[in-house]
Amino acid sequence: MPAETPCFEARNLTRAFGHGARRKVAVSDATFTIAEREIVSLVGQSGCGKSVLAKLLLRLEKPSSGDLLYHGRPIAESGDPRAYWRDVQAVFQDPYAAFNQFFTIRSQLKACFRLFDRRPPEAEMEERIDQALLAVNLRPRELDGKYPFELSGGQMQRLLLARIFILRPRVLIADEPTSMVDACSRAGILEYLMKLKEELSMTIVFVTHDIGLAYYVSDRLFILHEGQIVEQGAPDDVTQRPTSPFTRQLLDDIPSVHRPWVSRA
Ligand SMILES: Nc1ncnc2c1ncn2[C@@H]1O[C@H](COP(=O)(O)OP(=O)(O)O)[C@@H](O)[C@H]1O
Ligand SMILES: [Mg+2]
Repeated sequence: MPAETPCFEARNLTRAFGHGARRKVAVSDATFTIAEREIVSLVGQSGCGKSVLAKLLLRLEKPSSGDLLYHGRPIAESGDPRAYWRDVQAVFQDPYAAFNQFFTIRSQLKACFRLFDRRPPEAEMEERIDQALLAVNLRPRELDGKYPFELSGGQMQRLLLARIFILRPRVLIADEPTSMVDACSRAGILEYLMKLKEELSMTIVFVTHDIGLAYYVSDRLFILHEGQIVEQGAPDDVTQRPTSPFTRQLLDDIPSVHRPWVSRA
């Protein structure tokens, strides 16, 4: 049986900004595949190129050179970007930036349906919004008439995840989705992400600087350093037998009580 076409395939993918002495290579010569229904984490220190790689996958940035394929087709030529974003959705670091402060939450959730080829009838839209809110532990009636600024950071982040329950994309790119919340809500958000993966059998690209967090949720880790993927592999292999000094550095930065792989070894 031929191998399944990967969800994403990158060959020598590079994204640089600026020219001459000011040229900055944010993603350098990255070669990888991400299978369907796989959870891959992009891990590395601040500024290593995680978000730029995430934006390339989201078709929000264009490669400077190299190839990036989605289901075997170059992303840039995959036709209507709206159709692409119907498939590939994001949850970003700053949930307040994702919502317009001047419109009610409910009206903005309803706007999600614009990405669909066929807008469902009013009653069905309302029903699906309620279900999505309940799925992330938000009470639909309490949000009626409310605006984004009236919610806490944690509530907003859950609202972003509710969007994903409504849109049901094939791929979710989650860029530091837990950065705005306390440890308790963080566990909750990770739980919702796992629930999304189970219920919607999604492919997930999870971006984090926290290798401990990545260890828990991923099938594979990509370790980034200065724009390069310096190591990729299964969480146990990468954490217990790191081959790159930069991976070792990330592991050393974690207090020993927070090293989940130690107790499981
Ligand atoms: N639009 C841009 N113009 C110029 N430089 C950029 C741009 N976006 C990102 N960079 C640079 O690329 C590098 C990687 O950034 P980023 O992917 O945001 O890092 P992080 O791993 O923290 O998400 C950084 O040095 C950043 O300053
Ligand atoms: Mg970032």
